[in-house]
Amino acid sequence: MINRYISERALRLESYKAEPNAQGIALDKNEIPWGLNDNVEEALIKRLKALRLNRYPDNDYANLKKAISKYTSVDTRSICIGNGSDELIHMALQAFTDPGDIIAVQNPTFPMYKVYGTICGVRVWEYNLDGNFEMKSDEFINCIQREKPRIVFLCNPNNPTGIKLELQEIEEILKRIDGIVIVDEAYFEFSGLTAAGLLPGYENLIILRTFSKALGLAGLRVGYMLASPAVISCFERVRPPFNVNTFAQAAAAEVLEDMGKVTERVEIIKGERKRLTALLKGLRGLQCFESWSNFILFRSGSTGKIYERLQEAGIYVRNFSNPVLKDCLRVTIGSPSENDSFYEAVKEVLYDGA
Ligand SMILES: Cc1ncc(COP(=O)(O)O)c(C=O)c1O
Repeated sequence: MINRYISERALRLESYKAEPNAQGIALDKNEIPWGLNDNVEEALIKRLKALRLNRYPDNDYANLKKAISKYTSVDTRSICIGNGSDELIHMALQAFTDPGDIIAVQNPTFPMYKVYGTICGVRVWEYNLDGNFEMKSDEFINCIQREKPRIVFLCNPNNPTGIKLELQEIEEILKRIDGIVIVDEAYFEFSGLTAAGLLPGYENLIILRTFSKALGLAGLRVGYMLASPAVISCFERVRPPFNVNTFAQAAAAEVLEDMGKVTERVEIIKGERKRLTALLKGLRGLQCFESWSNFILFRSGSTGKIYERLQEAGIYVRNFSNPVLKDCLRVTIGSPSENDSFYEAVKEVLYDGA
């Protein structure tokens, strides 16, 4: 009965499903494997008393923007805060598209660009990456000049492939498109790659970042973006008031005070990425893609069996329904012992009976 009233857009979508991961080894959502470090936890417990939780949050995000500005060397007037970078993706679509407009995304990439695009009633034009998940820049630019998207989403490094774009490729796209270019740098701390240096030269560039990955606050939902003050003022028109809660604002600012610990953890993950990549590359019948992120994508004819075996062992990785990711799984880099458990289970399947 209610389906008579549902919007066409909602009808085209399915609800988002995520493994609860209450138990087991969660290597499916690209989180880091550690909780808050002790310094941040203590500082937050102390601060909690002073947080006036009976009041609405600071809608200007003064402290948090100051901390982000210090971290990124970008002026506070060029920063906007979101309830996760997911919310900023939605806000970008609300600020820069009308129903029926076109947006351009790569395929495969982070699925939420398409989901929020559908919610906003835009047409999503997809550029299929090649068999090794790489982009042919000239071809891509020709296509976007033909399609004239209002927004081009570039995920760098790309999720789920971990593959990077070169800065020159991004700049070429910025030069040649009459629209907004969003460079999603959710995995910036693991890649060391950023287009932030291009911000002064391109008013149509938006950089998205998140506290959910290297900064370890996925549970609090904080993201931010860097862009020209003109773009920020467009976002501010559609931003829901008080969109990030007081506690999350305080925690995010506190994490940025202790970047030494973040860097230490990032180095561990990068070391594990190198180790696990080498191990996986050594396995018969498995193709492993070089990653600039905190996850690795791999392809194998035995993906179904590997996924099942991992689930039996309580190890969760990401599988995909997207046909271009046929036979692929994505594993988040966990702690050294989690990575060992994952690797042993994969090896067991591939060498079963050999
Ligand atoms: C590329 C990319 N962008 C954005 C997000 C969303 O992050 P957040 O937790 O800040 O909403 C993710 C999460 O996996 C991601 O992979």
